[in-house]
Amino acid sequence: MFVRAMAAATPPPPSSTSLSSQPPSSLPSQLPLRSMPGSYGWPIVGPLSDRLDYFWFQGPEKFFRTRVEKYKSTVFRTNIPPAFPFFGNVNPNIVAVLDVKSFSHLFDMDLVDKSDVLIGDFRPSLGFYGGVRPGVYLDTTDPKHAKTKNFSMEILKRSSQVWLTELLSNLDKFWETIESNISNKKEETYVFPLQSCVFNFLTASLTGVKTSVSQDIADNGWKILNTWLALQIVPTTKIGIPQPFEEILLHTWPYPSFIVAGGYKKLYNFINDHAGEVIRLGEEEFGLTRDETINNILFVLGFNAYGGFSVFLPSLIGKIAGDKTGLQERLRTEVRKVCGSGTGLNFRTVNEMELVKSVVYETLRLNPPVPLQFARAREDFKISSHDAVFEVKKGELLCGFQKLVMRDAKIYEDPEEFKPDRFVGQTGSELLNYLFWSNGPQTGTPSESNKQCSAKDMVTLTACLIVADMFLRYDSVTGDEGNIKPVAKAK
Ligand code: HEM
Repeated sequence: MFVRAMAAATPPPPSSTSLSSQPPSSLPSQLPLRSMPGSYGWPIVGPLSDRLDYFWFQGPEKFFRTRVEKYKSTVFRTNIPPAFPFFGNVNPNIVAVLDVKSFSHLFDMDLVDKSDVLIGDFRPSLGFYGGVRPGVYLDTTDPKHAKTKNFSMEILKRSSQVWLTELLSNLDKFWETIESNISNKKEETYVFPLQSCVFNFLTASLTGVKTSVSQDIADNGWKILNTWLALQIVPTTKIGIPQPFEEILLHTWPYPSFIVAGGYKKLYNFINDHAGEVIRLGEEEFGLTRDETINNILFVLGFNAYGGFSVFLPSLIGKIAGDKTGLQERLRTEVRKVCGSGTGLNFRTVNEMELVKSVVYETLRLNPPVPLQFARAREDFKISSHDAVFEVKKGELLCGFQKLVMRDAKIYEDPEEFKPDRFVGQTGSELLNYLFWSNGPQTGTPSESNKQCSAKDMVTLTACLIVADMFLRYDSVTGDEGNIKPVAKAK
């Protein structure tokens, strides 16, 4: 409860997201030094047993929760999949960091190195990225990180001119498809039409090229990305098909990139042939080669943006559509009040929607789209949880599971509960210091010197626009993460 009170009383942490955001009375020196609990077990046997717990017997959330209870600590050593005993050289040993305070060390670029640790010690083959190592896999000390990060932020800045119109016109098509499916009694999840909408809107916004210039890309681009993403992350992800098939078929070896090489080449050629302006920007203003520019655009578009929204939006729309507490009515009232006086929906008006924004933040808190974050210790250092200090050795891989971190009871009241108003008002906005979905606090500033998501603000604003647009169209929507049904059109 102490830090929760502090959350309301302390000023925001610095944008560089260093540990100085910690309340002074709990600085590491005043906490007891404790030897780090947990172990890696016997070679092969320990990683295998932890892998089976993680994917099969417990699932990721229970895996971390049971170990927090067992060790009476939110910092401990354990293994995390993938562990391919016969393929590749992946080290499953990690230091788990599962409270807000210890997790914050992942943002301190003086302490940690982010080379090749996007999804853990395992990095998919560079064949998935045309042989280029995209910026997200680079540490801040690599000069190429600054070039690729600044390039991504510049594309975003330029895209803001068309972002809103592309989003709204693609949402028109999305809702037309949903309404037509309903009137034709076609039982189809809304997720695929949503992915098509997100792909078309993001491609037009980030590359400056409408997918309609190539019918093949417009129809199939998002499907190619689905396969491309799945092949990369499947060894690290619990899918839910019956065991032992999942373990044997999906988690035992890394999948090769040639399976999707033809599709990737089509997307590459699409950018190469049509996105001249954005390619010139990468080459001339950021010093990237043409090949690096195109592969980085494809990574940001396909993995960061399309992948991120594909996970996040169904959880947001599903949460709102499934609500039975009167939240929809409150959202509808706020949206129509703000947009009602002829001002319409845009970045400025959506920013005035306190409840819509809070619902978006609360969804990101409870269902962070990128659940695991990793970083490697540059040197030996001492890491601090709320209760104790532990020694970390140079080279150890820190791993935070956001789903638990964002339910830290010392920060968030009733942490397991979805509270739509949690981030409203002064106290609520101070909690944004501890909202970490973007690999940094929501009050932080993405830059070349950190690894925070370049689109930290654009993601939340876009999600707010989608919610607001939904309540301008419809009075209410029913459904869940897989299916939605607009119930009544706005008059
Ligand atoms: C819902 C959508 C999104 C989510 C959930 C998301 C999440 C994240 C996260 C968690 C990271 C940090 C990864 C790590 O190093 O551990 C990240 C990095 C990044 N994101 Fe996003 N992102 C989203 C959308 C976007 C979009 C639209 C862009 C477009 C420019 C973008 C560009 C980037 C870039 C360039 C990085 C790498 C930052 C660096 O290397 O310093 N993201 N994103």
